[in-house]
Amino acid sequence: MKKIPISITVNGEEYDLYIPQNRTLLEVLREDLEMTGTKEGCGLGVCGSCTVLWKGAPVRSCLTLALEVEGEDITTVEGLGTGEGEIDPLQKAFIEHGAVQCGFCTPGMLMTAKAFLEMSKDPDERSIKEAMSGNICRCTGYAKIVEAVMDVAGIGGPESGRR
Ligand code: FES
Ligand code: FES
Repeated sequence: MKKIPISITVNGEEYDLYIPQNRTLLEVLREDLEMTGTKEGCGLGVCGSCTVLWKGAPVRSCLTLALEVEGEDITTVEGLGTGEGEIDPLQKAFIEHGAVQCGFCTPGMLMTAKAFLEMSKDPDERSIKEAMSGNICRCTGYAKIVEAVMDVAGIGGPESGRR
């Protein structure tokens, strides 16, 4: 397939690439840019493990053509934190609440939660659960993940999210 040039900014760095027209953003991130934090689960838009931020909103990079984000800014899990060794409060909370087991779903969960907390003016347990409901975890379960997000939102202690 014919390759075309695109320019894309990921975590504040601009990249110029030649890619086939049907290359997904997920393929560009993982294979071309070697940013393997973003995970491929289903590859069909169902599991949420490939979630990244585009214009601050969560998108499924497996369903997004790289061409669609030509000239745009994308944030991946590698872009969380300060860049000076400080991890994001959400990452800290996931660790503290035991919300990570195998970790495969974690990047997608973090990016979904990040977007939600930045966009939501008055988050509560229910709205957090709704926001996270498109992300599938096969091992930890969801209670600890919700707990962690509630903690960062300032609406819950370690007990409040348990089910
Ligand atoms: S890999 Fe994209 S939604 Fe599952
Ligand atoms: S921690 Fe393993 S899939 Fe969520």
